[in-house]
Amino acid sequence: MKTNGKPMIEVDGLVRKFGDRAVLNDISFNVHLGDTLVIMGGSGCGKSTLLRHMIGSMKPTSGTVKLFGEEITGMKEREIIRIRLRFGMLFQSGALLASLTVGENVALPLLQHTNKSDDEIQEIVEQKLQMVGLTGFEDLRPDEISGGMKKRVGLARALALDPELLFSDEPTSGLDPIMTAVIDELTLKLTRGKGMTAVVVSHDMTSAFRIATRMIMLGHGGIVAQGTPDEIRASSNPEVQQFIKGEPDGPIPLNLSQDEHEHHQHVKPRPFVRARHRFHHKTG
Ligand SMILES: Nc1ncnc2c1ncn2[C@@H]1O[C@H](COP(=O)(O)OP(=O)(O)OP(=O)(O)O)[C@@H](O)[C@H]1O
Ligand SMILES: [Mg+2]
Repeated sequence: MKTNGKPMIEVDGLVRKFGDRAVLNDISFNVHLGDTLVIMGGSGCGKSTLLRHMIGSMKPTSGTVKLFGEEITGMKEREIIRIRLRFGMLFQSGALLASLTVGENVALPLLQHTNKSDDEIQEIVEQKLQMVGLTGFEDLRPDEISGGMKKRVGLARALALDPELLFSDEPTSGLDPIMTAVIDELTLKLTRGKGMTAVVVSHDMTSAFRIATRMIMLGHGGIVAQGTPDEIRASSNPEVQQFIKGEPDGPIPLNLSQDEHEHHQHVKPRPFVRARHRFHHKTG
């Protein structure tokens, strides 16, 4: 389990371009065993993209990512699977399979990666659903549960294999304050209690300050600020202060600049042409 004092995650010089625009532009940081790193930053600044690179589902334009001391950036899919057994990922959308029940979704990693019996899997599924407050919802399908419930099912699935490392994209978005506190307590129990390492993307500052041991704020393709929660709270950077206080006016612009959107223009279709096409098909 220990990584010989080495960091659990090493991100080094990570660059990711979409078209000409570098969404991530030379990002470097480490995450150590037992840490809970909260990544924050404005909508569209690249948080989910960064997570996708950290789990090896996207390849960087340049730079490297190491998990558990092994570089995953150059790995083939088959090699990444071996590493994937050691971490869980909660996607921002939940990413549940619509044709499977809640219980089957949580069971999926166990069916794919272990030889456990149905009874054993059943027991684990019940335990994980209980952890996220969803006992008794096993047989429902994703379209029969709320957005916040989908998030919690996604978390239960991410925890199914008892990972050493958890990546979590907005685990508390769409949850009420009480359920947010329940999920934060669960995170604390797994990290502080059991030594799990976590990387959590969050907009929810109450939750972020409750769970973080380290924080990174992303912006303009880079790291605007990083440090302990106390250091971030005391930051003299006006962007950090605007973000953590949720103020509408400040240095963070409401819209991406024209320049940042430029790369979209060459693929721009005629206005609404596709939408009209579908509309006529449906009604005509
Ligand atoms: N596959 C892709 N192709 C082109 N552009 C992409 C792709 N994925 C992400 N982007 C762009 O990268 C930028 C960052 O997107 P990302 O989803 O990482 O933002 P985010 O910080 O997670 O935002 P939010 O807080 O709203 O979830 C956006 O401008 C998005 O349009
Ligand atoms: Mg996102």
